Amino acid sequence: MDPKAFLDAHQDERMEQLFAFLRFPSVSAKSEHTKDVLACADWLCNHLNSIGIESKVMPTGGHPVVFGSRIVSPDKLTVLYYGHYDVQPQEPLELWKSGPFEPVIKDGYIMARGATDDKGQLWTHVKALEAYLSSGKELPINIKVIVEGEEESGAENLANFVKKNADLLKADIIVVSDSAQYGRNLPAVTYGLRGVTFVEVKVTGPDRDLHSGSFGGSVANPINVLAKMIGALHDANGRIAVDGFYDDVMEVSDWERGQFNKLPFDEKEYLTKTGAKKLTGEKGYSVLERIWCRPTLDVNGITGGYQGEGGKTIIPSWASCKITCRLVPHQKESDIADKLEACLKKLCPDTVHLEIIKHGGAAAVVVPTDGPWLEAAGRAIKTGFGIDPVFTKEGGSIPVVGTFKEVLGIDTLLLGWGQSDDNAHSPNERFAVDDFERGCYTALALIDELAKVKV
Ligand code: BES
Ligand code: ZN
Repeated sequence: MDPKAFLDAHQDERMEQLFAFLRFPSVSAKSEHTKDVLACADWLCNHLNSIGIESKVMPTGGHPVVFGSRIVSPDKLTVLYYGHYDVQPQEPLELWKSGPFEPVIKDGYIMARGATDDKGQLWTHVKALEAYLSSGKELPINIKVIVEGEEESGAENLANFVKKNADLLKADIIVVSDSAQYGRNLPAVTYGLRGVTFVEVKVTGPDRDLHSGSFGGSVANPINVLAKMIGALHDANGRIAVDGFYDDVMEVSDWERGQFNKLPFDEKEYLTKTGAKKLTGEKGYSVLERIWCRPTLDVNGITGGYQGEGGKTIIPSWASCKITCRLVPHQKESDIADKLEACLKKLCPDTVHLEIIKHGGAAAVVVPTDGPWLEAAGRAIKTGFGIDPVFTKEGGSIPVVGTFKEVLGIDTLLLGWGQSDDNAHSPNERFAVDDFERGCYTALALIDELAKVKV
């Protein structure tokens, strides 16, 4: 059977298999799910072996990676596919319309945690490779597959794994589908991702919670202090008020501005998509520039004091928050974390103790916007989606993409089949069946197109 005919004939089967993949609560951030993460890796590894990709689960020091390969001939090009089998935490559970790990199809969407980020997107490549291998034809390229289990919690161990296994991972090009189309029927080739840096801040005042009537007014309240410090991290123009923060920032180029201006952008639709009341951001930049090309600083969570039922009149002992900065090319994650630390130390009064934990992060990446690999991807997208792709950047991060370039010297094709309103990291994550299907046919076309590339 021809590979395309195989895809045509196995639509239900690949959906059932994807459901099985989605049922694993492979939440990398939470230790209570460690077993599930491992079970998911084993399941994936077995599946890859069963379709003719020789695979093993390999330790990293954290959650393992699944690595597989099928080397056809030393004369052929080698493509390394990357994806991640871990998912974000499922909370808040009460907002899910169906269980996060009980996949269902509703109104044309696959609903589950990981549907689009990234199990569903990864599955398109696995199924395209299977279609080829089941056709009786040999693959026209050598393939390697690396599927990570810690992408959603910072990928701290993968960089080392890549360094230690540079030979094993050697390839001509890398393919990643873990991003989004620009919009409905607007498939995209993404040429840049932002980086990220993680910083945790804890402010401690009294050595225990105190009666706020007896002591309030005489000692610092750590929540008040932390809130004031956080408030001082942005100025009135939405710029980050950390000394040196913008020193290395790559400015938006005229070419980029021109590209972005060609993309349709409907502010009303964007507001609906986010559910926000009004848009905001750094003065002087468009929305696309703000999310794709400008660095940010956001508090992701804040804790302290009493939030239970009723009231409790205390001066809390401590307050803490988690901050991430999204980074753009030439900013270094450690340098930005150092600058933020210095700024927080300056802002913090001497009435409290300040503790700062820097958790590392990842650099921003840009990949080429032309050349034979890009052209091959464009042709595959035209085959699978019937439309030429647009060029986009993304505001999110895929930490290993920078490592691949830095350590292995290999570029990555970032080809996403998802949508920005697929609710990645949110309740009711979804992936349109139609996008999944077109992703499978594009992934199949990509195999043939990449095989034609002359390096
Ligand atoms: N799939 C995303 C990356 C992404 C997000 C691409 C938005 C395009 C648009 C990936 O799974 C992700 O969420 N990465 C994390 C990395 C972080 C934990 C280091 C992110 O960006 O928050
Ligand atoms: Zn994600």
